[in-house]
This record gives sequence, C-alpha cells and structure tokens, in this order.
Amino acid sequence: KIKGEGTAHSKLILIGEHAVVYGEPAIALPFPLLMVKSTVQLGAGEITITSDFYKGPLNRIPEKLEGIAVCIRESLKFLAKPAKDIHFSIKSMIPIGRGLGSSAAIAAAVVRSLFSYYDQKLSHQMLMYLVDIAEKYAHGNPSGIDMECVSRDMPIWFKREEAIQPIEMGMPLNLVVADSGRIGDTRAAVSAVREKYEKHYQKAKQSINYIGELTRKTQAILAGGSPRKLGELLNKAHEELMKLGVSDSELNHLVSSAKNAGAIGAKLTGGGRGGCILALAKTMEDAEHISNSLRKAGAGNTWFFTLGMSKPASMN
Ligand code: MEV
Repeated sequence: KIKGEGTAHSKLILIGEHAVVYGEPAIALPFPLLMVKSTVQLGAGEITITSDFYKGPLNRIPEKLEGIAVCIRESLKFLAKPAKDIHFSIKSMIPIGRGLGSSAAIAAAVVRSLFSYYDQKLSHQMLMYLVDIAEKYAHGNPSGIDMECVSRDMPIWFKREEAIQPIEMGMPLNLVVADSGRIGDTRAAVSAVREKYEKHYQKAKQSINYIGELTRKTQAILAGGSPRKLGELLNKAHEELMKLGVSDSELNHLVSSAKNAGAIGAKLTGGGRGGCILALAKTMEDAEHISNSLRKAGAGNTWFFTLGMSKPASMN
C-alpha cells in the first residue's frame, strides 16, 4: 500500500466524569465536528512525524508525547514490522488538553493508519489495547472512557470492568461546547479528586455516588424524557464536580453565562480545571445564541451541533 489512513473524532462526556474513575457509570458522546486524521507513507530511515505538536524523528519526541512513541513501537511489534522507513502526517482539529479526548483520538488515528498502511485487520479490542498504552502515559490512571468514545460512532454507557453499552437516544440533543481556552490538566484533576477521596472520604464518596445516580437517571431520560429534566441533571452534576474541586471560577462563569443565555442545563465536561463546558439548548436557534453569548463571556472557541436520535445498534 502506498498510503495508510486513519481517523478518530473528539469526545464529550455528557455526565459521569471523575465518578467513572471510581467505578460509577458515565455517558460519553461522539463529537464529530473535531477530527484527527493520520496518514502513513513510506519514509526514509527512521520513523518520522509531521504534526502541529511535533515535527521530527520519533525517537526524539518530547517526553510528554512519549506515549505516542511507545504506542507506535508496540503496534509495529504486533505487526511484526521493522521500526523504520515510515512517515506519519498527523492533522488534528482537537485542541489539546481541553477534556475533548485529543490524546486518545490522536493515538487511535495513528494506530488505525498504521494498520491500514500494512493492510492488516484491526479489531476493536486490539485498538483499545494499543491506545491504552499511550493513554497511560498521558493520564496516569485513565478509566478508558476517552479511547472507547473517540473510536465509536454512537453515544456510550461506560462503566469500568464492564462491557460498553450503546445508549438509546429517544430525543435529539442541541449541544453547545465552549472552550475556556485554558489547558486543563486531567492528570492533576484526577489526583486532586483522589486526594479528597483519601482525606475526606465521606464527602467525596457522597459526591461520587450522587454523580452515579444522576448518570443512571440521565440514561433513562435520554431514552424518552424531557430535555428540561436532562438539563436539571446536568446542572446538579456540575454542582457535585464543584464540590469535588475540579471546576474553577472561569468554568463556573461560563456555566452561568450559558444559563443566562437560555441554556436548560450546563456543566463542565472532561477533566475540568480549564478545558471545556457543555450546555444543552432547547432549539438550534437557542444553541447559536448561547454559543455567541459564551464567546462574549470569554470562551476562546465555541461549537454547536445536534446529536440525533438513535436506537442502540450492536457493538463491535
Ligand atoms: C476525562 O475525560 C474523564 C475523567 O473521568 C478521567 C478518566 O475517566 O480517565 C476525568
């Protein structure tokens, strides 16, 4: 093959982030407006990469991107190919470190492109095994929700150690995403929750359990309930994330600006402490208005889209 190609999309956690690390369920949505594409071609000598975040040989990749290098080398080992003579060109529209799954999406696109270049079938399980290698470097103790979501085309119900379930969407969702413009450190946010969990067990456990309950209610409402009820659940989840210490004044400001502009619910999405918020709008006109208001309120970038209804298809 002359060229191998692989893509993956961004992800949004609708509800359940952080609690998911402790075994509670979470619901994640594909965010197809932001994609990563990786192309593999014949290179000369060592493995090289061209991307916005790094350009050069793989073995001189900066330490914080080391996960990608390990993931590529492990993929080549599995494919029984020599670690040379290939060039990756990676184009990602996903802003890095905003809780949108950029690290998992880059790794998924890279692995897919490599298998496509060598014309090898790639099972979902193998893809997850390889992307997890990169994710462990990027996040420390990832629950795995990001890599599952960026490589699937439907909303998912994710619980650690359990099979992924597709989510039934009995209503379309009009969503607005706003990027605070600040890099959120998921690894630091996850450790901050861990510290709370160890020092103030009762309180932290209460929030984690409650987020789990809100997530279960969300699943039922998505199948056939009112958007307004869903909005209330999202608002409550944000309050719990505040208690867990992963929100900050700027995210709270964006959340209240979204509500003031007519959102029926809003919360941070992903790791928090920087990164993004998501808001639920009644109509697409409302979504556009909320999106404009969030830019005025200081968001670096905003997007809005409708996630359609879907019946659960079979997985894998
Ligand atoms: C990050 O997108 C979601 C967190 O729950 C961390 C994880 O699940 O690995 C904050």
